[in-house]
Amino acid sequence: MSITTETRRLYEKLQHVGWSKDECETYAPLTLEINQLKKEQDAIILAHSYQSPDIVYGVADFVGDSYGLSKIAAKHKAQKIIFCSVHFMAETAKILSPEKEVLVPTRAGCSLADSISAEDVKKLKEKHPGVPVACYVNTTAEVKAESDVCVTSSNVLQIIEDLPSNEVIFIPDKYMADYIKRHTKKNIITWDGVCVVHEEFTSASIQAVREQYPGVEILVHPECSSSVIDEADMVGSTSQMLDHVKDSKEKQFMIVSECGLADRVKAEVPKKKVVGACSMCPYMKSIQLKDILIALKSPREDQIISLTPDIVQKSKACLDKMFEMTQN
Ligand code: 13P
Ligand code: SF4
Repeated sequence: MSITTETRRLYEKLQHVGWSKDECETYAPLTLEINQLKKEQDAIILAHSYQSPDIVYGVADFVGDSYGLSKIAAKHKAQKIIFCSVHFMAETAKILSPEKEVLVPTRAGCSLADSISAEDVKKLKEKHPGVPVACYVNTTAEVKAESDVCVTSSNVLQIIEDLPSNEVIFIPDKYMADYIKRHTKKNIITWDGVCVVHEEFTSASIQAVREQYPGVEILVHPECSSSVIDEADMVGSTSQMLDHVKDSKEKQFMIVSECGLADRVKAEVPKKKVVGACSMCPYMKSIQLKDILIALKSPREDQIISLTPDIVQKSKACLDKMFEMTQN
């Protein structure tokens, strides 16, 4: 493919998120090289919706939420996976396909995953013997290894409800725990983790958007605080929010989540309008095309995901339980 054709391909999508033709032309040689190397190496690129649009529309083979991407990582035949996202999501791919080479372009953390250790989980279990532990997917492999079942923002309510216990330890997101409590009579024991990106939204900023854009639909990620969830017309995972915009009859939406998702709405549903401010995740946005190129050409030690067989076995049981409970 020529630079001109690649520039045109990129511009088709990126113009909707404010990129100029010149900018697309600057990136075209990089996306062409990455896409060529992918083919030669039997590699696929998975990108979370929060990645920047040059990655999402330039090089990604699959884009989605943590649950959807983990299913692809488990089933796809490619021998190499470049996971453009935060570290725990790449780890999840390695747990599900330990025989594959899994690479993460930058070793990006996550305020939720960094908030709790395996030792913390062990202590919680000692304090509450026999109570099942449901861990949010935004946790390290070591924490998953100490947990009974993993959940994501798209299946958390169903899994908590279906667990055969009236008491559940849910870690580490205290706001998501508040969201769960709205929907269950079960006793939820939780942790003090927060997503620093979703914590930034306030009910006042949402009310201001409602006043300015009458009829706007407010879509909220369940990592937001209770007062923000009170303002929501719809609460869901990143993919559920995108599907909602596509299906809704409304014309204007506030995406109360990371800016990458707002960009996906602009690029993929250009007839609908995104209003209000989004919030940027510094971890997700630390990945650039040049890091992906390095991972494909000559991966650095810190880009290679490696886990001990013991951790793989224990954390896989926790993820398998999630798939079993969601019948996927
Ligand atoms: P999703 O499960 O909706 O992809 O969310 C993951 C995440 O990190 C949101 O901040
Ligand atoms: Fe973690 Fe929040 Fe960034 Fe998601 S948006 S990766 S939860 S810090």
